[in-house]
Amino acid sequence: KEIFEQPRALEDTLRGRVSLESGDLEAAEMGVSVEDARAVKRVILLACGTSYHAALHGRYLLESLARVPAVAELASEFRYRDPVVGEGDLVVAVSQSGETADTLAAAKEARERGARLLAVVNVQGSAIARASHGTLYTHAGPEIGVASTKCFTAQLAALTMLAIHLGRARGALTADKGRELLHEFVQLPHKMRDALAASRHVESVARAVMHTRDALFLGRGLSSAVALEGALKLKEISYVHAEGYAGGEMKHGPLALVDRDMPVVCLVPSDSTLEKMLSNVQEVRARDGQVIAVLDDEKAGAGLAAHTLKVPRTIEWFTPLLTIIPLQLLSYYVADLRGTDVDQPRNLAKTVTVE
Ligand code: AGP
Repeated sequence: KEIFEQPRALEDTLRGRVSLESGDLEAAEMGVSVEDARAVKRVILLACGTSYHAALHGRYLLESLARVPAVAELASEFRYRDPVVGEGDLVVAVSQSGETADTLAAAKEARERGARLLAVVNVQGSAIARASHGTLYTHAGPEIGVASTKCFTAQLAALTMLAIHLGRARGALTADKGRELLHEFVQLPHKMRDALAASRHVESVARAVMHTRDALFLGRGLSSAVALEGALKLKEISYVHAEGYAGGEMKHGPLALVDRDMPVVCLVPSDSTLEKMLSNVQEVRARDGQVIAVLDDEKAGAGLAAHTLKVPRTIEWFTPLLTIIPLQLLSYYVADLRGTDVDQPRNLAKTVTVE
């Protein structure tokens, strides 16, 4: 249900915030004025779990679109290592619940040391929102499933808005470029609906791989965070051991795992990573691995794949909002076919309020 709510969650997150005329965002609630944006020397994104994967995406967009140095940090590591943080840093705490203990503590620590604190949270009035100078709410609606799905794509959208806002304010993005991006941005809910319409096909692929013990997920560039998130979804709800890797790391170890019994989900959208990802696909095929290719163009690598999962085409920056959908569905169907509880996986809590 929540996977299928994503187009609506995205529409609600964008509503009233996008100005197609100016190519900019209505950004007052962020508490990051044009002057603040210009004063930012570095962005530090803090989060855990799925929200951390959204933060990795945010880092990429902030560097590409706003040309501001950005890092994504696991909140549970950041807070224990006496970090160098303070004035000039914009710290962005990303959290569905707004109550995750490590993210809250790390964000408060950064604020105490002089950073400006922005919350990207889904729950109104949550602790992280209250501790921050400004809040950019994801309007995904209540998320009950322990595995985060609609909040993940809403976080990707919110961080994209932040990157465009900073890019426009800092002069890294022209009004024309801003308009071009936002025109495509508002098309994404329709494209998400098209991606969801392929759910029966995803179920048939799930049937083909449901008995596997392990799986690998590979992506490059913006798709590397999607690979991590796809692997997390699968292990979380189906208890299949899954690893997400940046494609370039394959040769540095994980390739040793590939044999005929290993499904390898390869993210091969037709973007700047395509050629390199096709080499990864070939490396996997050469070891008899079963490739499941997530693509937006049938011609790209489909001949090498045992299964393909097709999504509509969009521009590179927005591709993860579409390519994650078949991976969420794949995890859902594998879990359902294996008979595990997709809403409440064993050993996990929706919100981790202890350290
Ligand atoms: C996601 O599917 C997880 N259940 C988990 O990783 C979650 O994203 C993490 O605990 C962070 O939660 P938050 O977004 O509420 O801070």
